[in-house]
Amino acid sequence: MKILGIETSCDETGIALVENGRHILSSTLASSKEMHTKYGGIYPEIAARAQLKVIIPLLDQTIKQAFGNSQNWRSEFDAIAVTSGPGLKSSLLVGVETAKTLALVLQKPIIPVNHVLAHLYANWLYPERPANWKEVEGLPLLPALCLIVSGGHTVLLLMKDHGNFKLLGTTLDDAAGEAFDKTARLLGFSYPGGPEIANAATKFQIRSASLGTKFRINFPRPMIRSSDLNFSFSGLKTAVLREFQKYKKNDDSQLPPDLINAFAYEIQEAITDVLVAKTLKAAIKLKPKSILLAGGVAANICLKEKFLLEIRNLKLEIPLCVPPPVLCTDNAAFIASYGYFNFHPQPWKKIDVYPSLTDIKTAN
Ligand code: KG4
Ligand code: ZN
Repeated sequence: MKILGIETSCDETGIALVENGRHILSSTLASSKEMHTKYGGIYPEIAARAQLKVIIPLLDQTIKQAFGNSQNWRSEFDAIAVTSGPGLKSSLLVGVETAKTLALVLQKPIIPVNHVLAHLYANWLYPERPANWKEVEGLPLLPALCLIVSGGHTVLLLMKDHGNFKLLGTTLDDAAGEAFDKTARLLGFSYPGGPEIANAATKFQIRSASLGTKFRINFPRPMIRSSDLNFSFSGLKTAVLREFQKYKKNDDSQLPPDLINAFAYEIQEAITDVLVAKTLKAAIKLKPKSILLAGGVAANICLKEKFLLEIRNLKLEIPLCVPPPVLCTDNAAFIASYGYFNFHPQPWKKIDVYPSLTDIKTAN
């Protein structure tokens, strides 16, 4: 089965065609990121206008990439999966209305997709058709312990089967990605802050190693030892701000780049320490068959390495699945994959946008 995925929940516009939930036939993505740099976050109307302009050309491009100039492209795919929430209302509307139009005109089934849960399906995707298709068919192994860390969400859940989740923990305030973005902004980096912090942290590590220095700033690891599996990152932002002001001579002064890099390193350490500790605490208790990371923050190399190291240290012997960075951040391929593994089409008239969709609907 081939599914057309449509993603427009935030600043990206993504269209993809995915076969059997795994093999990406084509995937295109446009972002309005640069247009928001001066605002330090996403400006919703700018995002939606940009999406309106690019969505049809991207659709055309994605179809041509997958099916060439075939006149039969309309019958080449079976269904449409579209992000219906959570996200920015005006952005969601662009994708949902496009999907509904296609569903009506082409008479295709349409599946509304929860964007947060869909991130997980990046773990089912293969850019090339896997040669050992039969072997990978049952992967990743379920039940899986899942950590979804994106710009707006930090969710720890147990996935027993497709559509069968148990929510274990979530953030009480800022999401992990938000913590990266907000602290990055403080340090003078542009949006999105996660990759900028990661880059600066690597520079700090390289310099410290070459100079043999051990300079460290210390930030708290919020809730790392709390008895539940929830997270909190807003205290970290306050701690960074306080420390930052100590080093600033006056309002207009800039911190030296090496010091900024030291801040970035410690921010990354603090966020990743908490994510790893809480997830592995749940893994010890629940003994899942695999651990899945997903969401933009899962593109962080330090996070992946820390997970691998701790899983080894704790002798857990649970496989860790982390999608390639390009599939961690928003794209339409994981939306299409979600549609395949959760094939519950609805009449197009019933499809709507849910900007603050928070419930993991199928939790039990
Ligand atoms: O999943 P995503 O693309 O969009 C949402 O659904 O929110 O996640 C975006 C978030 C941003 O907060 C961004 O700073 C963060 O993912 N991010 C990273 C990295 N790449 C993206 N955070 C840390 N390290 C990275 N390499
Ligand atoms: Zn996302």
